[in-house]
Amino acid sequence: MMTGLKTLCLLAVGAVVLSGAQAQFISVAPGGSGFTSDTCENVALALYQSWECVEAGAGVTGGGPNGLATQFAAARKANLNTVRFNAFATMEGQNLQLPSGRYNATLLVGLDQAIAEAADAGLKIILTLATNWDYTGTASDTKAFYTNLSRTAGGPDDFWTDNGAITAYLAHVKNITSRVNTVNGLAYNEDPAIMAYDLINEGRCDSSNCTATDIQNWIERVAPVVKTYIPRQLLTVGQEGFWQADNCAANTQNPVPNNEGGSVSWPIQTGQNFLSNHAVDAIDFTSVHLAPVNWARTDNVFSTAWLNGHSDQSTIIQKPMILELFSTQIGADGFTQTNSSNLYKLVYAITEASINTDSPIRGIGFQLWDKVRLSPNAAGVDNKTIVSSTSPAWEDTIVPFAGRIANRCPASGPASAPAPAPSSTAASARRHLLQAARRIAPSTTPSASADAPAPSYNPATINSQVGKHLEVVCVVCGMSAAT
Ligand SMILES: *[C@@H]1O[C@H](CO)[C@@H](O)[C@H](O)[C@H]1NC(C)=O
Ligand SMILES: *[C@@H]1O[C@H](CO)[C@@H](O)[C@H](O)[C@H]1NC(C)=O
Ligand SMILES: *[C@@H]1O[C@H](CO)[C@@H](O)[C@H](O)[C@H]1NC(C)=O
Ligand SMILES: *[C@@H]1O[C@H](CO)[C@@H](O)[C@H](O)[C@H]1NC(C)=O
Ligand SMILES: *[C@@H]1O[C@H](CO)[C@@H](O)[C@H](O)[C@H]1NC(C)=O
Ligand SMILES: *[C@@H]1O[C@H](CO)[C@@H](O)[C@H](O)[C@H]1NC(C)=O
Repeated sequence: MMTGLKTLCLLAVGAVVLSGAQAQFISVAPGGSGFTSDTCENVALALYQSWECVEAGAGVTGGGPNGLATQFAAARKANLNTVRFNAFATMEGQNLQLPSGRYNATLLVGLDQAIAEAADAGLKIILTLATNWDYTGTASDTKAFYTNLSRTAGGPDDFWTDNGAITAYLAHVKNITSRVNTVNGLAYNEDPAIMAYDLINEGRCDSSNCTATDIQNWIERVAPVVKTYIPRQLLTVGQEGFWQADNCAANTQNPVPNNEGGSVSWPIQTGQNFLSNHAVDAIDFTSVHLAPVNWARTDNVFSTAWLNGHSDQSTIIQKPMILELFSTQIGADGFTQTNSSNLYKLVYAITEASINTDSPIRGIGFQLWDKVRLSPNAAGVDNKTIVSSTSPAWEDTIVPFAGRIANRCPASGPASAPAPAPSSTAASARRHLLQAARRIAPSTTPSASADAPAPSYNPATINSQVGKHLEVVCVVCGMSAAT
């Protein structure tokens, strides 16, 4: 991690020198205390999910490229500053990659269009490189697509371990990230509008064939390689952020405690392990999803603990965090519009408080805006998740939040001293650690002084032990190393 941090600092300096006034690559600030660009010292994200962008770019749905341009302009007008979408298609029969291993050239240009239109509108982009979910049973860029390409792979979960599947995934990621956009002429990995990539959306184990170790090993194997393809852009995992039982947060902050009713809980079965998955050096920032209705945890206590828990553990590995997907489902399980707008208020308030206090959570994205023009019965979309532009969540929470975020760093010109100004790296990192320590162990009554002793562990040691993260967990959970 320390080497990784140094590299990032050099990259940040390099980006300023090389890119001139227009380009604004986003970097992770030294010490992981946030995101910066050459015109904004403290970048925060007001993000939304879009859908079927590649198909719309190819003219198949969504009003084509003009429909995308209209949507992206409306997003900017509402002060949203970042859009997250798939770098592939999800409509039935619209597969970016063909079983031959070749590409559908029309859809590749559709991806070019989507990226160019979002960039033109002034949005930053988070691109998802693959997805756990095969909505049609035949979609490319899914686990099964890659295992089907490999002669040695069996079921979809061999995606995590099979050499052929991993090689095919990496070859595709290399092709995409080095592709020169036919609309704006920029190589994807030289386009400052593309802020970051998700390795895979909500990657999970879907069978007992797969373990948390498989997913951890996969991240450790592919992330450093992908990072070499995108040296000026950022990388994250793209998962929901569940914990395994070796992390005490599994019992208190997963949607259900482990072994409830005598069986291994579903969050554990996903094989995700937030802390060790994101501790991998090549992962630049942490990201989580939050779907309270889907997870049957609509209580405020859960959402609050979910955000605080991940924030605390992001502090430990010194990486900023994004809640890249927040989703509610109005009308499901007695969950009303009022329930939804209340939860929106809570979750956005926690995010904004984190942004304003220099704490890890630096952005939030909602699922799914009604300005996203979907194909009829769009695959992968639950209409209950759609946020109407006349709903209280939109009018009272999302738009005012986005406006305040926009005021921190004007779209043009140098950063106008956003408040609070970032402090020195060491002091900022220490403040994060102290905040985390206070939340975790309120009984230890830490001194409010900035000179209070830092917790007695060394991040450098911890970060060099990816996969052996018990020490970190012990600190987080206040357990002794012997337990
Ligand atoms: C992906 O790139 C490799 C070279 O890195 C090339 O051999 C392959 O043909 C490309 N795939 C497609 C479908 O263009
Ligand atoms: C490629 O994409 C275009 C546009 O979406 C579609 O019409 C065509 O059928 C696709 N071709 C193949 C071979 O999948
Ligand atoms: C993978 O292969 C199986 C068996 O041939 C097929 O049913 C499935 O549709 C394929 N999946 C994808 C995503 O190509
Ligand atoms: C489990 O792994 C074996 C060995 O790779 C494979 O043959 C089998 O198809 C896998 N099953 C599933 C459901 O992924
Ligand atoms: C909706 O809000 C009401 C009033 O606060 C609460 O009693 C109820 O449990 C909430 N419903 C759900 C599904 O969270
Ligand atoms: C979801 O909404 C879309 C767009 O309004 C509509 O075309 C579709 O029929 C709806 N799907 C369901 C299952 O209601």
